[in-house]
Amino acid sequence: MARMLTFNIFRYNPQDPASVPHMQEFRIDETESMTLFIVLNRMREEQDHSLQFDFCCRAAICGACAMVVNGRPGLACHTKIKDLPEKITLMPLPVFKLVGDLSVDTGTWFRGMAKRVESWCHTKKVFDPTAQEERMDNALAERIYELDRCVECGCCVAACGTALMREDFLGATALNRVARFMLDPRDERTEAEYFDVIGTDEGIFGCMGLLGCQDICPKDLPLQDVLGKLRKKMAFAAVNNLLPSFLRREIKL
Ligand code: SF4
Ligand code: F3S
Ligand code: FES
Repeated sequence: MARMLTFNIFRYNPQDPASVPHMQEFRIDETESMTLFIVLNRMREEQDHSLQFDFCCRAAICGACAMVVNGRPGLACHTKIKDLPEKITLMPLPVFKLVGDLSVDTGTWFRGMAKRVESWCHTKKVFDPTAQEERMDNALAERIYELDRCVECGCCVAACGTALMREDFLGATALNRVARFMLDPRDERTEAEYFDVIGTDEGIFGCMGLLGCQDICPKDLPLQDVLGKLRKKMAFAAVNNLLPSFLRREIKL
């Protein structure tokens, strides 16, 4: 028998001075193959046109529909209702600026992050449009692609105790981005230059290894592995100059 679902949804419009943060109850009958994305659209169409939430691709690609579902950050379009209990609480992602109800501004945060970690290939080569495309080893291209699959949903940031406590912490997605450029042979940054970007308390040394990021990432990025290797690599980058040459180590990602 189809279940009757009860949703408690955070409502607040920061643009409206009369709006007060509160929870609103919605009831909806479950249908086959229902996702949270379908539920929210039905609620907005049938019950309350003012309900705010974001979506674009419906296929876990754009990262726009992230929210906190029963205390756990996740993508609404990727969340199957059959996996949830009958009572469901929806909150907006913390850390990011609230636009209204379940909608948050992840774009500004991610743009700021991209600037902080200088998220582009640093090279002294002058671009030559007539040059042959440089081939990259397939296995290496796949390793870069594995880290490049981040959809910038913000779930790992919302699930990280350090990011919740510290606005200046870069977060797993930013550290993963740096690892992606470290692997890329077209980026000519030295280890010392990378150290300036992430070898700080706001960067890799601020990460307390809580691993909420790894548990929550809807794209299953290997964040635990990336963070562990980055920490080791940056620790050696810090002390290599103080060590005799036979003790120096370059850690591979
Ligand atoms: Fe989302 Fe995963 Fe990227 Fe974090 S690393 S922003 S959880 S896709
Ligand atoms: Fe946060 Fe992940 Fe580190 S949850 S503390 S970034 S291991
Ligand atoms: Fe694009 Fe959910 S709508 S990730």
